[in-house]
Amino acid sequence: MIGSHRIEGYAIVSADGMIADGNGVIPATIRNDADQRFFQSELDRAAVLVHGRRSHEGGPRADKRKRIIVTRQIASATSDRSLPNALLWNPAGATLEQAIAALGVGDGPIAVLGGTEVFGLFLPLYDAFHLTRAAKASIPDGRPLFPQVGPQTPEDVLASFGLHPKASRDIDAAACITLTTWERGAAVSTLR
Ligand SMILES: NC(=O)c1ccc[n+]([C@@H]2O[C@H](COP(=O)([O-])OP(=O)(O)OC[C@H]3O[C@@H](n4cnc5c(N)ncnc54)[C@H](OP(=O)(O)O)[C@@H]3O)[C@@H](O)[C@H]2O)c1
Repeated sequence: MIGSHRIEGYAIVSADGMIADGNGVIPATIRNDADQRFFQSELDRAAVLVHGRRSHEGGPRADKRKRIIVTRQIASATSDRSLPNALLWNPAGATLEQAIAALGVGDGPIAVLGGTEVFGLFLPLYDAFHLTRAAKASIPDGRPLFPQVGPQTPEDVLASFGLHPKASRDIDAAACITLTTWERGAAVSTLR
């Protein structure tokens, strides 16, 4: 938690734990309509999104959402007149609490959208991580979900930071797309 805000991560990955190809493009094999519906409706309840400069959720409601864009191009935290509802943030120069206060956000979770380094930055802080897996897809030489993925699986990494799988469902069984929500706290013996 940061103040009253839960911190929740969202990603869709290939079977080998990749979020994009080596050029930073999300291939069609890990794009899925059911996942997009879930993702977009979750973002509608978020107080603020946090993502790196090369990531964006897209969709018709994107301009209405408050966002913090992670970048090293500024020293700490500053608004950008060309980006309404957005704040540029360098974690080396300002805390997340300071960034949130500078932007001014309402109630609701902080939604972390990646990419790799940003997903990794929040690993000690996630209250929940919503991991969608496209089991039929593989992306050789792709961008990993977390910096540790490769030697480790995404699940290994989430577990090593104290998260446990709490709920799993096939959101598009024909396409082998499964959504698992990992939560911080005690492990449960079975998935529902
Ligand atoms: N499948 C999925 O769920 C998913 C999720 C997210 C992204 N993606 C895709 O993955 C692609 C690759 O993502 P990516 O990891 O290359 O992009 P990214 O995290 O969106 O952007 C990278 C940029 O963010 C800034 N940044 C990252 N970590 C930082 C830190 N610790 N401190 C300060 N600035 C930091 C830097 O910006 P500056 O260069 O401005 O300093 C860096 O160049 C994206 O283009 C997107 O298409 C997929």
